[in-house]
Amino acid sequence: MQTRPERESPSADGDAAGDRVGVAPAQGSGPQAPPGRASPVCYAEQADAAYMGYLGRDELVAALDELLEAERAGARVAEETAAQLQDPGERALMEAIRRDEVKWCGMLIAAIQSLDAKPSARTGAFHAKAMAIASLPERMAFLNRGQGWVVKKLQALVPRVREPGIQDELLAMLSSHRENIERVATRLAAPEGG
Ligand SMILES: [Fe+2]
Repeated sequence: MQTRPERESPSADGDAAGDRVGVAPAQGSGPQAPPGRASPVCYAEQADAAYMGYLGRDELVAALDELLEAERAGARVAEETAAQLQDPGERALMEAIRRDEVKWCGMLIAAIQSLDAKPSARTGAFHAKAMAIASLPERMAFLNRGQGWVVKKLQALVPRVREPGIQDELLAMLSSHRENIERVATRLAAPEGG
């Protein structure tokens, strides 16, 4: 499905097709109400949302669940890494990351529940992958790359969320992740023993 709100999307899969859809909406595979359906008004509303590039409820829940599992993994990695760190500054930094990850887990759970869905109870595979890295600086760098993955997901997701409350929260999560990536990158670039 091609999407229209492409403001921020970094992906290259939109290019010319989006413009064409915008100019000539009636061609071929557009979401037109099938003739003879009993409730064309309800159907049309859903079709409009999809046509505008907004996510339907199930797609949004799936995207929020994916982020929730990733944040849960991130929180556990930060917690277990903080417990192993000797340097008080690094430990405080990992503790702060853990608190943020836990906070976004809570936000995502509330958002999923507000859509009348049951939040995933799983932890993303990222946790096991990260904890297999024995070197703490390398693991923190890996955690930061995971945070970068979350940023990319959020950049693609935010323009497609129609629910204003959820969109605002996801934007706050996006800027918080950018800040935390910067903090960890700065710390990892600093000379050892500082
Ligand atoms: Fe995160």
